[in-house]
Amino acid sequence: MALIPQSFIADLLNRVDIIDVVGQHVKLKKAGANYQGLCPFHQEKSPSFSVSPNKQFYHCFGCGAHGSAISFLMEYSGLGYVDAIEDLARSAGLTVPREERTVQDVARQQQAMALSEVMSSAADWYRAQLKNAPRAIDYLKGRGLTGEIAKRYSLGYAPDGWQGLEAVFGPYSNDEVAKTLLEGGLLIQSEASEGNQTVRRYDRFRDRIMFPIRNPKGQVIGFGGRILDQGEPKYLNSPETPLFSKGNTLYGLFEARQAIRAQEYVLVCEGYMDVVALAQLGFPNAVATLGTACTANHVRMLLRQTDRVVFSFDGDSAGQRAAQRALEACLPLMSDDKEIRFLFLPTEHDPDSYVRAYGAPAFEKVIKEAASLSTFFFRVVSEDHDLTTPEGRAQTHHAAKPLLLSMPPIALRTQILRELAIRTNTSPAELEAFCGLTAISAAPSSQSRVQPRTEQGNFPNRMQGAPWQAGKGASKRVAQNIPPPQAPTDLAEQILRVVLQFPHLGKALDSSQRTLAIEAAEQRSSNAMSMMRDLLTQCDSVELIPSESGGTGEVGAGAFAMFQEQLAQSELAPLYEVLRKRVMESDLDLAGASADLEGAFKKLQTNQLKKEMTEITKKLSDSSATEQDRARYRELGEKLKFS
Ligand code: CTP
Ligand code: MN
Repeated sequence: MALIPQSFIADLLNRVDIIDVVGQHVKLKKAGANYQGLCPFHQEKSPSFSVSPNKQFYHCFGCGAHGSAISFLMEYSGLGYVDAIEDLARSAGLTVPREERTVQDVARQQQAMALSEVMSSAADWYRAQLKNAPRAIDYLKGRGLTGEIAKRYSLGYAPDGWQGLEAVFGPYSNDEVAKTLLEGGLLIQSEASEGNQTVRRYDRFRDRIMFPIRNPKGQVIGFGGRILDQGEPKYLNSPETPLFSKGNTLYGLFEARQAIRAQEYVLVCEGYMDVVALAQLGFPNAVATLGTACTANHVRMLLRQTDRVVFSFDGDSAGQRAAQRALEACLPLMSDDKEIRFLFLPTEHDPDSYVRAYGAPAFEKVIKEAASLSTFFFRVVSEDHDLTTPEGRAQTHHAAKPLLLSMPPIALRTQILRELAIRTNTSPAELEAFCGLTAISAAPSSQSRVQPRTEQGNFPNRMQGAPWQAGKGASKRVAQNIPPPQAPTDLAEQILRVVLQFPHLGKALDSSQRTLAIEAAEQRSSNAMSMMRDLLTQCDSVELIPSESGGTGEVGAGAFAMFQEQLAQSELAPLYEVLRKRVMESDLDLAGASADLEGAFKKLQTNQLKKEMTEITKKLSDSSATEQDRARYRELGEKLKFS
């Protein structure tokens, strides 16, 4: 039987919306970033089935079923892989091409070429053109870039002409060639006008320096093109395509990934040139939001790479507005182990020009001194308000309220609230009451709000909002409005959350990791520890099998679902419910979840090493250290240097 080209399957999945596909069979309701409904793959009374429009994936929190629109049809309708694709293609008005590996005409092959292949072929061609374009090379040199950096970022040049890409893809008059190029935004097609029946198709990018934009996997998904001389528009970007959306893309992330790890922070700027120039000048850990506002998705992507983010903004008023948007995007995703800073450059400067004017050490210094999130928070809410008057202070409260409400109930929120109370001549309790953050609603962010199903009587009231704290102490703390001693968004929670969503990741943990995880949970509460222990044991019954579609499926998911139902009935229910809710409303795919898990363990391991080191330090200071201790001390020092 002839094969279905992978490229077609990719195209198909880009074209159909999983919400529609699933929605034909399951009643879905929007919840946060995702949709949810009753899982069609196991019996349940409350919805555990979540579908992500961004990821184009479904996941059942109850039974672990997950996959794409194709696997949904396979599982739901009992179709085979090929039939499911046929079915889906029909609904999208497409016919499934078959790859007869014989000599075929060029146009047909090109049509089968996936959009991403087209983008990468175009990028290769632009890059090759740069070599023959002295004007473009001079421009890049004039901006201080070397060939090495141009190569690392695969910079290219789109020649001045109207049909440049025909050299790669064949004549634009061929509808099949044109279709994919138009879809990828590389071509522009003018409408046939009166008296002129022919449509004109021509290159979008002409006589421009080309910056390929990659996704985190390194595939080219779009381009930015800069004009060489003065002119408008200075930058021309790919339009939104099935592959490329600005709000979900960070320019340079793929190239910067390793440097972000090594430097332990990411620098976020506004432009292509900033990223490339900074890499040239010793800051390879920079990415850019490409002239759009920083979105929650951007922040999520950033925080997946590192715990430390420094946003850099141009000194003008547009920069100020951009910074405020970034703050708004960060607050709901903030946790106490993250550090987010805001750097404002002098007016007229962007990072590129700043480093060139003042040098790398000066830039390093301003990065270190960048405003903390709380500092910028106070500035934003008190801006234009006179804190010496009651009116000004009241306006400040109004400005702060939505921002405070958008934060999860972390220690930093409490601190910001108290500080703000002091600065505005009020008491923390009054400010809390004004914001609606009263004692009982200890978890008011939309992300983590605990909504106990009180009407069903499942949840004892005393547990509301404080499922992390064990029993008695918690209710007392809630009553007295004392913040929990530790933030609920911590490493133990991170691990629990990931393992609940992807049990096979939990299964893969070795015994030392399990011990670490259980210890971390123990520091939370005895409930968290029990849950961690049970969960890790249960994971072992889940087995991962490669599925036909190249992904993976899980068996043993039924047992895992039963385990979760038991959890929901047990005394661990309040904690379970909080975790479940977080998973349902999060937008984490497998890659993101693995990264989260890896990050959590890295930190736990580091913490453990640090603890050991402190103990030896004590011995060293009271001279009770043995030779062995000293050797271990040196070893730990080395390890910590690299962790
Ligand atoms: N931008 C855009 N379209 C424009 C202008 C800007 O898409 N017409 C986006 C680009 O992503 C650009 C970013 O906004 O990189 C910042 O724009 P700007 O500050 O004007 O340019 P610089 O990054 O300073 O570019 P250069 O240094 O090359 O002048
Ligand atoms: Mn610039």
